[in-house]
Order: sequence, then structure tokens, then C-alpha cells
Amino acid sequence: MAKTSEYSGFYNLSPEERRNWVADFASLSPAEAAAIASGGLPIEAADHMIENVVGTFALPLGVAVNFLVNDRDVIVPMALEEPSVVAACSNIARIARKGGGFRTSSTDPVMIGQVQLVGVPDPFGAKTRILARKRDILDLANAQDPVLVKFGGGARGVEARVLDTRGGPMVIVHLLVDCRDAMGANAVNTMNEALAPLLEEISGGRAHLKSLANLAVHRLARAFVRIPPDALARKDFPGDAVVAGIVSAYHFADADPFRCATHNKGIMNGIDAVVIATGNDFRAVEAGAHSYAAMGGYHSLTTWEKDAEGHLAGTIELPMAVGLVGGAVKTHAAARANVKMMGVKTASELGEIMAAVGLAQNLGALYALATEGIQRGHMKLHARNVAIAAGAPPELVDEVAARMVAEGKVRADRAQTIIEELRKR
Ligand code: MEV
Repeated sequence: MAKTSEYSGFYNLSPEERRNWVADFASLSPAEAAAIASGGLPIEAADHMIENVVGTFALPLGVAVNFLVNDRDVIVPMALEEPSVVAACSNIARIARKGGGFRTSSTDPVMIGQVQLVGVPDPFGAKTRILARKRDILDLANAQDPVLVKFGGGARGVEARVLDTRGGPMVIVHLLVDCRDAMGANAVNTMNEALAPLLEEISGGRAHLKSLANLAVHRLARAFVRIPPDALARKDFPGDAVVAGIVSAYHFADADPFRCATHNKGIMNGIDAVVIATGNDFRAVEAGAHSYAAMGGYHSLTTWEKDAEGHLAGTIELPMAVGLVGGAVKTHAAARANVKMMGVKTASELGEIMAAVGLAQNLGALYALATEGIQRGHMKLHARNVAIAAGAPPELVDEVAARMVAEGKVRADRAQTIIEELRKR
């Protein structure tokens, strides 16, 4: 029988108990579970990843439970320092099950490589000549990466634009490359560089920059969720009012860049945490998300509506340049174990789950903001950190945190006073 990802009270377990449950859920080997426990990055491995290594830098790794994505039970590894994110994500995933969970989809994993042609005598003529040589361009690009082609990927399309710039017109060529399960930066950049002489010959100009475009509009992940109002109702907040409040919060974000930056940041709280946990390039995903949100005027990456039956319906769509092969995804033992934890077989599937997490995270934030506010739940978790930072010994942390929350004073000075009082006792 398929295992369920639903676990109420997961937070009550110890880290070791949670890890054992995760290992059992995802059939992790003892070595994989150990990699997760230790951080999975020995100094020798780190030393091969970047330059001038002096150590490794740890983050907490949490697991969001309760996810149902395309009828499959999923648990999600999240690496980040911010309290509330994993709890909110698990909570929304639990509520989303009442409406059948998340539905996701994606485009083919097509990345864009750009070649900048400068000093082209006849930019519009060059554009036409480049498009006419599409077959030659694709063949030359594909000759650079027979392995990608063997796995069903490779260069698929050529686009050309004349760009009016401060320095005069330039011809910008886009090579569209299906990267399959790779993030694709290396494959695309190698192809770009190999194409430069041919593009110079065709255009009569000079190939200047050759690089990947992080605004990956052809590699989109999407998720949809539909939740009955009853599932959102809570004390003093009837379901209909919560739905209306969430829709209004979305309208605010979509109309105002100040609010929208925070709204989209909340989405990325969830997505980045999974991107990091799986050893992917969070800067690339961030760049893609915010530049996509800026297209046509900075807007929300999600939408929230009340549908014909009064249910809350939400969508998300964003570029998702993540991979399962190459880079840290393969060399980092904990990243490999985290990918296995999610049970994904393709990079597209990974990107889709990340989109579902982003949608859940956004709903978690809007749900809190539209009802009791974000500080109450956040402060409960934050109070423990404040207590620890103020020097509370492990046996007093919970009591110090609970007292600060009850008093509504979650501050270092108050924590210190309470610690002194408890010590005297
Ligand atoms: C905090 O990291 C994220 C939120 O501010 C997002 C939001 O306001 O939508 C809670």
C-alpha cells in the first residue's frame, strides 16, 4: 500500500524520530539517512566544489509533510534558517488535501542561451539570414553535447531580435536548448561559445557576450490548488470571510510593488529552501522568478480567486531552472538523499513540486495575514531562538519561550530576566 505523507503532530517528534520516519517513508539507506543527519558534505568534497575552502556552513534541514501532488504523497526537504516556513507549508499541505491536493504541470525543460552580436552592418538583414540558417545552427550546437542529445534533449530552436540600445542596434540570438534533467548552464554556454564563429560569419558582426539567460520563460512550472472554504475556517473567521480575505490580499499584492515584493518573497521562502536542500542554484531560480514577475509590470507569481462553488482557487507559474544531474546535486550526499526523499525521477517533476511548495507557502502567509496576523505563530517559534540566544540552558528553553509568548514580550532583555528568575528558583 502506498504510504501517506500525512502526519499530524510531526513536530512533536525528536529530530532522530523524524529522520527515522522520513527514512522509512522514502526507503532511504542508513548511509543516506546519515548524510542527512550530518549535513552530507565532508570537507574534502567541499574543497572540490569551490575555491579557498576553509570549512562548511550548516543550515537546519526540515521536512514538510502532508503534500499530495498529482495524487502522489510527497514529503519535502527544506533547508533554511527562518522559523514558521516549514510549519506553514505542512499546515497548508494538510488543508489542501481536503480539496484533493496540488495539481502541477510544466513546459519542456528548455533554457535560453544568448549571443550578443555587435557591429552588425545590416542588423535586420542579419536577423533574417540567421533564422534561415536555423538547421546549421542547431546541428552545430547539438554536436557539442551528444550525451544530452542521446537522452532526448538538445538544441531545439533559434530566435533572433534586433535590440535598440544606447550603443546602437545589436542582434541578439537566442538558442533554445532542451536540457532534460540538467539545469543546463554548462550545456547551453558551451553551445553558445561554439556558435559564435558561425554567427559572426552569417551576420558580419562580432559575437560579444555568450551566456545563459536566467529569465527562463520556456522552462515554466505550474501548480493549482482548490480548497473548500470550510477547510479554511477558524475561530472567529468563517470560511467565506477567509476566502475573501485571501483574494483581497492577492489583489493588493498584484496592484502594488511594495506589497508584491514581500508576497513574492514569501513564495520564495518555500521554493528556495527546497532548491537549496536539493543542491540546486537558488540564485538562478530567484533571478528567474523575479524577472518573470517583472515582465509586463511587477506582479504576483500566484493568483487567488473564489470559484463558482465558493472555493478558493490558486495558481502559480514561474521559471524553474533546476536539475537532477550535474553540480552539487550529484556531489553533495545530503542533496542526493533529499532528492530521493521526494521520489522525483525528472527535473521537471522536481520543479513542479517546488511550484506547489511556493503556492502553499504563499497561501500560508496570506492565510495568516488575512486572519490573526503573522506574528503570533511566528513569535512562538522565534521565542525559542531568542531564549537560546539569551543564554537559556536547554532544560529552560521551552519555559522561557512560553513565558515570553504569554506576556507578548519576545525580547532578549526579557529572556535574560526570566532566565535569572528561573535559575534562582
Ligand atoms: C516572511 O519571510 C514572508 C512573509 O512576509 C510573506 C508575506 O507577507 O506574504 C510572511
